[in-house]
Amino acid sequence: MKKVLAIMLVMLMAFAMCPTFAMAAEGETLILGTSADYAPFEFMYPNDDGEMVYGGIDIFVAEYLAEATGKELVIENMAFDYLLAALQKGDYDIVIAAMEETEERLNAADFSDPYYTDYPAMILVKADKAEELATLADFDGLYVAAQTGTTKLDIANNDMPGANVVALQNVNDIINQLVNDKIDAAVLDGGVALEFADAEESLAIAVASDELGAAAPFCVAVQKGDPKGLLPGINEAIAQMIEEGKVEEFVQMADDLSGVAEEVSADAPEA
Ligand code: ARG
Repeated sequence: MKKVLAIMLVMLMAFAMCPTFAMAAEGETLILGTSADYAPFEFMYPNDDGEMVYGGIDIFVAEYLAEATGKELVIENMAFDYLLAALQKGDYDIVIAAMEETEERLNAADFSDPYYTDYPAMILVKADKAEELATLADFDGLYVAAQTGTTKLDIANNDMPGANVVALQNVNDIINQLVNDKIDAAVLDGGVALEFADAEESLAIAVASDELGAAAPFCVAVQKGDPKGLLPGINEAIAQMIEEGKVEEFVQMADDLSGVAEEVSADAPEA
């Protein structure tokens, strides 16, 4: 009987420790919308039981914000391009997706204080072309992909004259097409480009990347006008998170996990 009780207790504790099942104070949830195709910020990886779960810097930030505001985090995955429309509709409470605040996005959402600034944007190409693609003019006539609705697509459209720009909804598709020579280049946030260059032996960062400007910081988006009154609490939690040095910790945690994610994506069949 004691043994059974002990086992039940252990199971209960394991259950309580699992963040997705942790009971929030008033059973309130914080629904996160993200586009989990963007390691090291948001991606899926198999946990110890082989289940695919969410991880990455932004996911850890969201967990921190949920904890700080006493809510249970729920994660919804969606193509980046639809995130702000779904947020506006009320499908999510917050969007965290390596998202920069832009003039245009301010029409659709409110943004928190910045929580992280990534490396400048980079152009991912086949490793054997990385040196010869030395300036942005060298992409004239080449197929350059970027994710739909992103600031990286703006770079491809505005800063790479003569490039045939291909907009795709999913970054994993972009990487697949690049690996399989269906396109010549991909414009990504720097940290993401470095992650894929590291994971895929055939890929590298083009020298021309040096011509791209500085990175804009990432922020948390909430519904326009913040009708749920979330922003003050979120900004307070972000300030505390930065002060506690948590973000560096999250970067390290994401880095430790990405090895696991890489193995899986390497095995994944071509889309
Ligand atoms: N930083 C870029 C932007 O704000 C791209 C973000 C893409 N994020 C993602 N999770 N796929 O437009």
